[in-house]
Amino acid sequence: MRIEWIKTHHQALAPFNRFKEKAHTKATKLFANRKGALYIHIPFCVGRCRFCILYREYPNMPYEHFVSALIREMRKYRSFQPEVVYFGGGTPTLLPTTELGRILDSIEKRGEIKEITIETTVSEFDEKKAEELASLGINRISFGVQSFNNKKREILGRRSPESEVIEKLKLARKHFEIVSIDLLYDLPYGNTLQEDVKKAVELNIDGLSIYPLVYNTTMQSYPHPNIEENEQNFLEAYDYLKEHGYKHISINHFSNGKDKFLYSEYFTHLDKPLLGIGPGAGGHIKNYETFHPPRIRRYIMDPYRVNVFSMPEEVFCGIRVIASMLKGNVKILPGNFAASLQVALNREWVGLRGKNLMLLPKGLFWANTLIYLMSLDFLRSYVFH
Ligand SMILES: C[S@@+](CC[C@H](N)C(=O)[O-])C[C@H]1O[C@@H](n2cnc3c(N)ncnc32)[C@H](O)[C@@H]1O
Ligand code: SF4
Repeated sequence: MRIEWIKTHHQALAPFNRFKEKAHTKATKLFANRKGALYIHIPFCVGRCRFCILYREYPNMPYEHFVSALIREMRKYRSFQPEVVYFGGGTPTLLPTTELGRILDSIEKRGEIKEITIETTVSEFDEKKAEELASLGINRISFGVQSFNNKKREILGRRSPESEVIEKLKLARKHFEIVSIDLLYDLPYGNTLQEDVKKAVELNIDGLSIYPLVYNTTMQSYPHPNIEENEQNFLEAYDYLKEHGYKHISINHFSNGKDKFLYSEYFTHLDKPLLGIGPGAGGHIKNYETFHPPRIRRYIMDPYRVNVFSMPEEVFCGIRVIASMLKGNVKILPGNFAASLQVALNREWVGLRGKNLMLLPKGLFWANTLIYLMSLDFLRSYVFH
């Protein structure tokens, strides 16, 4: 039987969407006096990378107005205690350092922050920026590399050549405790994943997030590898990383042991609160999800507009169990998931270790598909009993 390859956890958990209901609870109330992760969305970019599916805009206004709106929003959550902070985008390093500093200064309870990550793009990063970011206490930097290969970079619409990527990663190495990169496979005209992970290991990169490319309308006409070839390329890269001391700490992320990527705990453990602020940012707490409408101009006028959705407790429990799969090991009883787990056992996506089901290397490649099948299994038993 041919099974569709599901590439993202959004697609994988989509069967649950129909159970979401608009809740009449305020996000500020839900997050009051809680601890968790703080995600700050900075949706600015100068580049227009052809492959990108994320919400971003092109700056045509002073950054201070946007940052002031973020700070206004942040003040509403003054009793929230962040344990980790993540600046995502877009390209957060486009903000002047003084503005990033203003955002960090507006966090009232800063005492327990263990990790501050910022995403960046090679072209928007230099020595001065590195020094300034490190001086703000940012200790983890994540570059969207996608591929070192110049031909692939051109097709994806990335603006810097391989030589600059390497130069900037070496520079980051000097200033940050943890350097992480994003790599893509299922690329137009074939993958370069094996060469890319080799280069990352040579450069002593601490963390690697490896994703299959999701084809948007701009990219969809390109021929790309079939599923078998992608699986093979992913497994070769997995073996190489393993041989060189890297372990997967979630289904998409590999670490050399130094990169704890604490932030990832908050989207794999749905019990842990994740407060998202800024246009387009999402978050979750208990069985509630929050989502900010995108669009910067509207956000600046009213940064308090947050949609809150809830889900029935039992359904949410199912999601929680299934989402734990994102961490890479599955401590669950087959129960409601008998059919999907049988598929996973037959196809060697999971193996049994004692009473635990362990995700095998193939299972990392198929993890979102397995999550999707488990979602369907769970909902079948939920609806019919
Ligand atoms: C918002 S970008 C932030 C990094 C930074 N702006 C950059 O481009 O270097 C975060 C990551 O999302 C991932 N991403 C964006 N579009 C994608 C797509 N179409 N398919 C898979 N991953 C994608 C990329 O791996 C990218 O590095
Ligand atoms: S990949 Fe990064 S730099 Fe390029 S458009 Fe997307 S968010 Fe911006």
